[in-house]
Amino acid sequence: MTRPATARLYRGTPRNLARLARMLRDGELVAVPTETVYGLAANALDARACRKIFRAKGRPANDPLIVHIHDRAQLDLLAETNSAAERLARAFWPGPLTMVLPRRSIVPAVVSSGLPSVAVRMPAHPLFRQLLRRAGMPVAAPSANPFGYISPTSAAHVRAGLGRRIPAILDGGECPIGVESTIVDLRDPRHPQLLRPGAVSRRELESVLGVRVRMPTRRTAPHAPISPGLLSRHYSPRTPSQLHERFSAREVGDSRVDEAWIFVARPAGVSGENIFWLSERGSLREAARRLFHTLRLVDAQRFKRLHFERARGGGLADAINDRLARAAGRG
Ligand code: TXA
Ligand code: MG
Repeated sequence: MTRPATARLYRGTPRNLARLARMLRDGELVAVPTETVYGLAANALDARACRKIFRAKGRPANDPLIVHIHDRAQLDLLAETNSAAERLARAFWPGPLTMVLPRRSIVPAVVSSGLPSVAVRMPAHPLFRQLLRRAGMPVAAPSANPFGYISPTSAAHVRAGLGRRIPAILDGGECPIGVESTIVDLRDPRHPQLLRPGAVSRRELESVLGVRVRMPTRRTAPHAPISPGLLSRHYSPRTPSQLHERFSAREVGDSRVDEAWIFVARPAGVSGENIFWLSERGSLREAARRLFHTLRLVDAQRFKRLHFERARGGGLADAINDRLARAAGRG
């Protein structure tokens, strides 16, 4: 099959959505906007189509995909649910929450990297929802970036990373949340585990479930036995990076101009071409939304080293710090 030199961008017109839905049904890859980050989508029930995702991303086969659904009926098709999952679905779907549950046999093993579980999310992005409805099947989609690089939050990011490897991108503008979904393991509903912090906070999960939500240790993480340490360096800029508890003005002032400093809020008393911030006033929502875009911009400027300042507070701050720690290779 011939590939266009670079992926074609589609605006979300009814005609384009119908065409992209047909491509998905035909086993093609389509990059899609979600409220978190852009995803690289394929028919989740078609093993051959899903294998294309791994090839296009250069993703190892032991890193499972998230399956995206349009409605509740599709959840029952894919997974064995329980009362904890029902409650979280009612509270947070459609939205940035992914649940890991026992997998039904209709899900091809390649999607879950052979694990007996499957990760499922009902996304909120209106264009992606329309595409899911028209496609009429669940869609597997990891973030639409080459494996290990920073997740994309715009169609331009997707094109820069995967443009030559995929035929089509649905352009939904910038992703409003900007960090990937919260992932919670609900295989044992009495002992839920937070596998990845995101916009749905641990506290919100706990208040709906009425039980503690634990962070897994490396040993109990479901992917640990098949891919030890796989996720510890992820979302990574190419520039060597370091995460700091707090920057001192002196440390920053004394530093070399070829090292960049990335603050959450605009810092007082320091300025220069190597000083960056995620949000003028330190809004965590804005910081999350601009995080990956800023990392990409700074990474492109060929500094010798990047220094990140840890975000303060819970909720989105946990999600931001998780991504910064992984970018610095200590996740
Ligand atoms: O917001 C998001 O979650 C985005 C958008 C596109 O929905 N997706 C995303 O996928 O970030 P990504 O590239 O992070 O890959 C999915 C991750 C895997 O790396 C793995 O950690 C976890 O989801 N995962 C998938 N299936 C799993 C399973 N059965 N058990 C444990 N973890 C699983
Ligand atoms: Mg990813």
